[in-house]
Amino acid sequence: MLLEVRDLHVEFRTRDGIAKAVNGVTFGVDAGETLAVLGESGSGKSVTAQAVLGILDTPPGRITGGEIQFQGQDLLKLKEQERRRIRGARMAMIFQDALSALNPVLSVGAQLSEMFTVHRGMSKKDAKAKAVELMDRVRIPAAAARAGDYPHQFSGGMRQRIMIAMAMALEPALIIADEPTTALDVTVQAQVMDLLAELRRELGMGLILITHDLGVVADVADRIAVMYAGRIIESAPVHDIYKAPAHPYTKGLLASIPRLDQKGQGLYAIQGLPPNLMAIPPGCAFHPRCPMAQDICRAEEPPPAEVDADRGSACFYWRETLDA
Ligand SMILES: Nc1ncnc2c1ncn2[C@@H]1O[C@H](COP(=O)(O)OP(=O)(O)OP(=O)(O)O)[C@@H](O)[C@H]1O
Ligand SMILES: [Mg+2]
Repeated sequence: MLLEVRDLHVEFRTRDGIAKAVNGVTFGVDAGETLAVLGESGSGKSVTAQAVLGILDTPPGRITGGEIQFQGQDLLKLKEQERRRIRGARMAMIFQDALSALNPVLSVGAQLSEMFTVHRGMSKKDAKAKAVELMDRVRIPAAAARAGDYPHQFSGGMRQRIMIAMAMALEPALIIADEPTTALDVTVQAQVMDLLAELRRELGMGLILITHDLGVVADVADRIAVMYAGRIIESAPVHDIYKAPAHPYTKGLLASIPRLDQKGQGLYAIQGLPPNLMAIPPGCAFHPRCPMAQDICRAEEPPPAEVDADRGSACFYWRETLDA
């Protein structure tokens, strides 16, 4: 396995108290596999990604437990300098907002070239040629002519392509994309997502794709992990989850996707709000919003149940949910 995260815990100490953002997350990503991580705002998706990359805001954030194994190394035992060497070269991140992730005062060609001069010791001339080649590869029109342009001179979709090029530059084994297309309009979203999927396939990388959008997931992901209140509450191969979710929360999420064949019907929305992470409800964190909740759900935290060899649900009533 390329990446194995085991029982990860992350807290944020703030003036108002301790926010328990990640509460025992376990998952793995194989080489060449795409894992989609889904969940409402505040469920701990980005914090999990930041912990894996080693870019967590510390303080106020703190990893309070768990293990992150990457290519046979326990990342949490490495020094910052060693983590930095892994970042970019062996794992890379694609952010939602390219404009703030890219350097505004450096041309995109220079930023891409730097990857090769700094990490690969290439000459300036060779690095420049590689930069243009990469821009071509992510289909920036007239790449050679545009290498001297600055980030703000590109459209949102083109900027996102440049960030993908930066992430891919050193051919890392793992890419984490955090809502990579959320800021784009729908047609551009699809193009950027297709490009990402295509490059991932060509380079055989592992990909963690964080998204709110269940619509895009079906086409590109192999597996889905659904997060709620800092836990993975369901994890399964993508087709199994679409066919029959094994957790009421996943079921609610699926029911809230607009479908062309059900025009006119109101969209289902999960009632209530995600919990305050400083006061997560006892038992199952989802119980206050769950249509299936019973006494046991209010009292005990459901252990991960094995639905199938490669499928798990943290619900006492996963069988009933699956059959309903
Ligand atoms: N820098 C920070 N300082 C304090 N608390 C933080 C910080 N970053 C994250 N948190 C806490 O962790 C929680 C989870 O945040 P995270 O960014 O992982 O959510 P998310 O699932 O990525 O949501 P979204 O879909 O909105 O991006 C937040 O609700 C907040 O309570
Ligand atoms: Mg996020």
